[in-house]
Amino acid sequence: MLVVRAQVAAAEVGMPLAREGTGPSACLPGVGRFLAVLAAGCLGGRIGEMGTGVGVGAAWMASAMPADCRLVTVELDPGRVAAARRVSAGEARVEVVQGDAFDELALRAPFDLVFVDGGPSDRVVELLRIGGRLVFDDVTPVEALPADSPYRENDPKREFFFGDSRLVATEVVLPDLRNSLLVGTRVG
Ligand SMILES: C[S@@+](CC[C@H](N)C(=O)[O-])C[C@H]1O[C@@H](n2cnc3c(N)ncnc32)[C@H](O)[C@@H]1O
Repeated sequence: MLVVRAQVAAAEVGMPLAREGTGPSACLPGVGRFLAVLAAGCLGGRIGEMGTGVGVGAAWMASAMPADCRLVTVELDPGRVAAARRVSAGEARVEVVQGDAFDELALRAPFDLVFVDGGPSDRVVELLRIGGRLVFDDVTPVEALPADSPYRENDPKREFFFGDSRLVATEVVLPDLRNSLLVGTRVG
């Protein structure tokens, strides 16, 4: 199964399935399930991912997306690109591109769903069609932050997301109560 293959590849390169340590982590299972739910609705659509890693999130989405949907995922690191290509070998609907995520996705926009998990995020709304969905990873619910965390008062990610009038947005706390996603639909 594609997701398991990707999770094994992540373990091999030392990307944990949890946010821990200082290095990049691979897509958490709770995040993957959420992405799969959205991907499953992308009939005839296009999905973009910023920051492939070795392809765990891409695997969740590709496993759920309809047969007529395509996914392009972009990663800077050549070693991770090679690993992600091995994971997705034989999946004709999945393209793993090496380069800057925003630049490469902009060439292929608009998307029905964009998962932002690496690279600059300031212009990502431009990548969506009207009605398209945006998902930001790596957010900690306020209740799970230490009492003295500055992110309780001032979180640039949340400010960006909720400050963009083109998005109808919310925060989704995952079942582990320690991680959340910012999710939005482009309306303007
Ligand atoms: C948290 S990891 C991605 C995990 C992956 N989405 C998954 O599902 O397992 C973030 C990745 O973004 C990549 N990255 C950082 N800046 C980038 C950029 N400008 N363009 C493309 N990839 C980038 C990093 O090399 C890293 O592999």
